[in-house]
Amino acid sequence: MKIRILTVLFFVVALTACENEGEFPKPVRTVPPSTTTGLHTHLPFPFGAAVSVNLMKNNPKYRAVVTNEMNSITAENAMKVSALHPSKDVFTWADADYLVDFAQQHGKRVHGHTLIWHQSLPPWIENFSGTKEEFELIFKNHIQTIVTHFKGKVVSWDVVNEAFENDSPALRNSVWRRILGDDYIARAFQYAHEADPEALLFYNDYGHEWGPTKRTAIINLVTSLKQRGIPIHGIGMQMHTRYNQSDANLAAAINTAAATGLLVHISELDISMNPEKVQGIALTPALAQLQANRYKFIVQTYNAIPKAQQFGITTWNVGDADSWVPGFNGAPDWPLPFDRDYLPKPAYQGIIDGVQ
Ligand code: XIL
Repeated sequence: MKIRILTVLFFVVALTACENEGEFPKPVRTVPPSTTTGLHTHLPFPFGAAVSVNLMKNNPKYRAVVTNEMNSITAENAMKVSALHPSKDVFTWADADYLVDFAQQHGKRVHGHTLIWHQSLPPWIENFSGTKEEFELIFKNHIQTIVTHFKGKVVSWDVVNEAFENDSPALRNSVWRRILGDDYIARAFQYAHEADPEALLFYNDYGHEWGPTKRTAIINLVTSLKQRGIPIHGIGMQMHTRYNQSDANLAAAINTAAATGLLVHISELDISMNPEKVQGIALTPALAQLQANRYKFIVQTYNAIPKAQQFGITTWNVGDADSWVPGFNGAPDWPLPFDRDYLPKPAYQGIIDGVQ
């Protein structure tokens, strides 16, 4: 009995020491073998996309690109709160399970997106009117039921997504923060870690490349979580960016994230070619080449951070036909490395050139 207690104590002390030194677990589950050709085989880190269940089922060209070019996938919407947890005692797994089964059959890594967000909330959460204690239990149960369901299949999670206001260092007044207080963020990571101690846990947000204001707030948050010994392993930077974002801002985003020592995931990459939202324009060859150069720069900069921190690059959507950007901006756009027919654009070569 004494020996047992001593052994447990040893591991607790060792783990605490390890976390205090900032030595966080490395990705323990490696990417399984995927296809032997395709974009991901040219890159020294995982490459993937956010995928739609509907298109995976119904569009053979789309499915072929995901199967042949990627070795990592993120669910575009199927693992969000409203998709998985539509009412208090109901979890709906079918769509997310479909993607996970596909990934297992084809050797793709699955990154989970996202446990806690202010969007995609079902009304029963958005309009919750019980006590703080009741909501804490719902919050914990939400996280742990989902993480447990996908344990061993989903290697990593965006535990909290977009906790900051738009271009601001202030925390967003989501229902989670209003009821549970600022430290809901730390507790989300603790609950997820309890449910799957091997899962790699990320804080995910946008605007790292906009400038220092929001970026510094994000970096301060993750650094303080890390210093407190909260189980956070990575930073996801969405990087929904634009052709005219400066090299300096893109590099500052990637390099300050890497300076935390955490894993770095470019988690939602797309490059808008029409951020001015001009109507009725088309993608010219010159614009497509400009886009290729921007992809190249981002990949090159990412490839230069320490290898052990390169969790991978994920584009948000697969090709220009399914990009969320035209709908979001209300203007034509071509933000992705595959065109409307799912053929490679110059950006595809730009990504490969980034690691040459
Ligand atoms: C978007 C999806 O692409 C859309 O289909 C959905 O209607 C709204 O959400 N940041 C995120 C993603 O973290 O989850 C968002 O995805 C895009 C912005």
